[in-house]
Amino acid sequence: MKNIVLIGFMGTGKTTIATQIARRLKMRYVSTDDMIEKREKRTINEIFTKDGEERFREIESEVVREAAAMNNVVIDAGGGAVLREENMAAFKETGTVICLTADEASIMERTKKYKHRPLLNVPDPKRKIRDLMARRTPFYAKADFTIDTGAVTLRQALDEIVKIVSGARHPGDTLPG
Ligand code: S3P
Repeated sequence: MKNIVLIGFMGTGKTTIATQIARRLKMRYVSTDDMIEKREKRTINEIFTKDGEERFREIESEVVREAAAMNNVVIDAGGGAVLREENMAAFKETGTVICLTADEASIMERTKKYKHRPLLNVPDPKRKIRDLMARRTPFYAKADFTIDTGAVTLRQALDEIVKIVSGARHPGDTLPG
């Protein structure tokens, strides 16, 4: 079976859904963020603060290549991983790419209690979310499938992914149906 790659904005539920779908389908869960931190032996916040976002994106691209080369994995991709075309190409080569979406208010709600995301550690995170979402929409739209996590329960989202990977869904189908 192809890998499953979950992409989408911060706070759309990628980690929760990827972990559960991996368990359900007996696949291995991998997170590009975890791989980066393990490899660098420092946190994402530290990488951004010390070396800047560009350096983070370089490391992220290397890790994406590594993750995409694995077999039978569910990849939890960092929210900005799809900004580079080479990353999306690598994901698509070995995996089914599913984008999770959520509205601005839910993202704000789900991310506000955490401090590990440097892009949202700003005075006006709401505005930052809006700006980043607008800029990234065309990149997220390149996914093979999209699931709006605000419109379905966790269980429905998981069922939907199972349908997708079993071939019962076709790109362009309205989800869930
Ligand atoms: C980022 C998302 C984060 C992490 C980093 C940058 C982004 O991952 O890779 O903070 O640019 O959207 P999550 O989407 O898992 O929070």
